[in-house]
Amino acid sequence: MTTAFDYAELLRPNLPPAAAPWTGFAKYNFTGGHNDADSVPVDGLIAAAVAVLKREGRTLATYGLESGPLGYRPLREFIARKLARDADVQCSADEILITSGSLQGLDLVNQVLVGPGDTVIVEQMTYGGAITRLQRSGANIVGVSLDHDGLSAASLKSVLEDLKRQGIRAKYVYTIPTVQNPTATVMSEARRGEILTLCAQYGVPVFEDECYADLVWQGERPRALRAMAGNNSVIHIGSFSKSIAPALRIGYLVAGWPLMGRILAIKNDGGSGAIDQMILAEYCQHNFDAHVRELRKALRRKLDVLMECLRSQFGAQAEFEDPPGGIFLWVKLPAGVNTTRLAQVALQSGVAINPGAEWMTDTVEGNTRLRLCFAHPSEQIIREGIARLAEVCNREFGVPARGAKEHR
Ligand SMILES: Cc1ncc(COP(=O)(O)O)c(C=O)c1O
Repeated sequence: MTTAFDYAELLRPNLPPAAAPWTGFAKYNFTGGHNDADSVPVDGLIAAAVAVLKREGRTLATYGLESGPLGYRPLREFIARKLARDADVQCSADEILITSGSLQGLDLVNQVLVGPGDTVIVEQMTYGGAITRLQRSGANIVGVSLDHDGLSAASLKSVLEDLKRQGIRAKYVYTIPTVQNPTATVMSEARRGEILTLCAQYGVPVFEDECYADLVWQGERPRALRAMAGNNSVIHIGSFSKSIAPALRIGYLVAGWPLMGRILAIKNDGGSGAIDQMILAEYCQHNFDAHVRELRKALRRKLDVLMECLRSQFGAQAEFEDPPGGIFLWVKLPAGVNTTRLAQVALQSGVAINPGAEWMTDTVEGNTRLRLCFAHPSEQIIREGIARLAEVCNREFGVPARGAKEHR
């Protein structure tokens, strides 16, 4: 064995903490945004792969598949048609950039707009991956409260006004309007209008993250903010991670030119996975709608199991709303519980949960919350895992108090 070369003195300053080697998923895994394994359309993807590679495989000889740096054109055309039909977004395929997951969309927008000391407005409870990225870029993150209708217009107005008084123009308002992560709220069309009016008034663009929009149980969603704005003041990102499979790593970004030119100039990665894009386009053109209808049913069934288990294990001490779609349940436990600590001890018993503090700009309030992803674990694993979580939580915090099993 050679001795390990020591990089410690060569590393750039301010790197994030080192990642630990992966040791596998917990047996009862309620973390992350994983999807339902039985719903991955394996046969359809195989058929699509064979068809598209036989027909167009030779185009793999060029970077960008002869479609250019925005990504595989048939996929962009599919997305343009789908956005027009479902979200009323009118855009051409040339205003759509295929990204390596919507996470790359977040990175690209941040690289173009956000530098150290810049102010960014986000929902007080929001996607942990968005918070950590902004923290790393040195941004000043300002949280706006949420209500049953999503991002609160009154709270946004007071934040915008406050920033204006300080002479600060925020770089954007980041929102997950349709099936918010983690609260699962769907912002009403009226609220969308109010948010757009406010942002226009203060000259702040909206950054709309729509990766769960296909997973509204009822199948219909309000118009996208980008559609309602009718100009290029809204940057829109979406993903196939939640509707097909997260390991695909295919997302998209919709922006007008010349901003798109700025974004494209820094996406110098030689293009996102080409075979993934080809297979996805081939599959989606004929199968997307039927697939998502079935996926929604499978997710809803698992959600029902999770809610029933929480009610029977935690009684009224676990508070949550029945979400209108998505893959997460956002749960509130009594004040004495610290979910960051709970996540650590539960993991020792094989139960992985996301503590609320990682999903909130106000980490103190997040300490009683937890986020549970119900998409990946089987119904049996959900039942066993929640029973085990209740056991651990009772041991550590006396919650649920044994005997208190009635829910609300
Ligand atoms: C709100 C939100 N945005 C973006 C992402 C990233 O998704 P992906 O990069 O897989 O498209 C996630 C993943 O969970 C998310 O919840």
